[in-house]
Amino acid sequence: MTVSSPPGAELLAHITAHDPSFRDGIAEALLAVEKRLLHCAAGAPDPRVAELTGHLAAAGGKRLRPLLVLLGAEFGEPWMDGVIDTAVAAELVHISSLYHDDVMDGADLRHGVESVNSRWGARLAVAGGNWLLARAARLAAELGPDMVRIHADVASELVVGQLREMTGPGEDEDPVDHFFQVTSGKTASLLSMAPAAGALCAAAPPVFGRALAEYGRQLGIAFQISDDLLDLAAPAELTGKEQGKDLAAGVLSLPVILAAADRSPANAELRELLAGGPLVDAGDRHRALELFAASPAPAAARDHLRRRLDMAGAALELLPRGAAREALYALCAYIDTRVAGTAAAER
Ligand code: IPE
Ligand code: IPE
Ligand code: MG
Ligand code: MG
Repeated sequence: MTVSSPPGAELLAHITAHDPSFRDGIAEALLAVEKRLLHCAAGAPDPRVAELTGHLAAAGGKRLRPLLVLLGAEFGEPWMDGVIDTAVAAELVHISSLYHDDVMDGADLRHGVESVNSRWGARLAVAGGNWLLARAARLAAELGPDMVRIHADVASELVVGQLREMTGPGEDEDPVDHFFQVTSGKTASLLSMAPAAGALCAAAPPVFGRALAEYGRQLGIAFQISDDLLDLAAPAELTGKEQGKDLAAGVLSLPVILAAADRSPANAELRELLAGGPLVDAGDRHRALELFAASPAPAAARDHLRRRLDMAGAALELLPRGAAREALYALCAYIDTRVAGTAAAER
């Protein structure tokens, strides 16, 4: 993010390069979302609590979910009441999940600043995340019964994904299958809901909503894989998060699962390191990151990512041509290029 541009502007510029006037319209809507989001997130009725609940919203973020709501609304009548608040609600659910996720992972850094748990402790971070989810529920209530149901379903699916990440795969469960189920819940549920809810609010035909939901589902899975690859390959200056956090927290991300399953002799040292559980020792972690970068696992994970992007692209074929559909295609390309700079995935 540059100093003058609000969160989300960079991503928007990236995916709407084909149509500057379309970009300007969405940029204006994103600004309205931003203003309302900061107001809602920091709206807890006590200044010290409000500082905590507003912390991550103020710290930044790509605003991917609001952008998806706004793009989904383009397939109907995008100026209709409720579109902005639907985008705000989606981002509040996301931010709430980050409060909880940073507690789960013991993460100290988010958007390049102290995480909520690092600054206020885990107990306050969990309660703050709960409040943000409640704030999103209140917005949904103002939007009507359909949005209440959508909000409840997505919150439930997201949290079940987080719970299943923590319980890990069952004894007879394939870790890759488990990964896709976890990811479908913790990440893709909201990315699927966002454009579909935007379309619903804008009174778009239901068939468009269904295509957008499928697009968001596949895009969400691809997005999580890109995040998993960046966790292993990108420095904190780039992501605003600690590099190797998934290894330190023992998170079974897709590239980690693929590396742990590679039984080739060349992979013996990495396999052994990963078999030891969370890599809390910085030296071990550093070595694992090195070995990982030289292994075939990143490229294999990127193959999965590309398959999901192909599926997302196929869902878009059901939508009418135009600037919004182009932007959604461009988002697929953005997710693929996100990981292109990571040397390992280039192999
Ligand atoms: C982070 O999401 C959590 C994942 C689903 C990987 P984002 O990378 O979209 O986070 P922000 O919104 O930019 O902070
Ligand atoms: C989190 O996934 C997904 C959520 C919905 C909270 P990650 O654990 O990979 O997210 P980061 O990397 O901490 O942002
Ligand atoms: Mg995390
Ligand atoms: Mg991650």
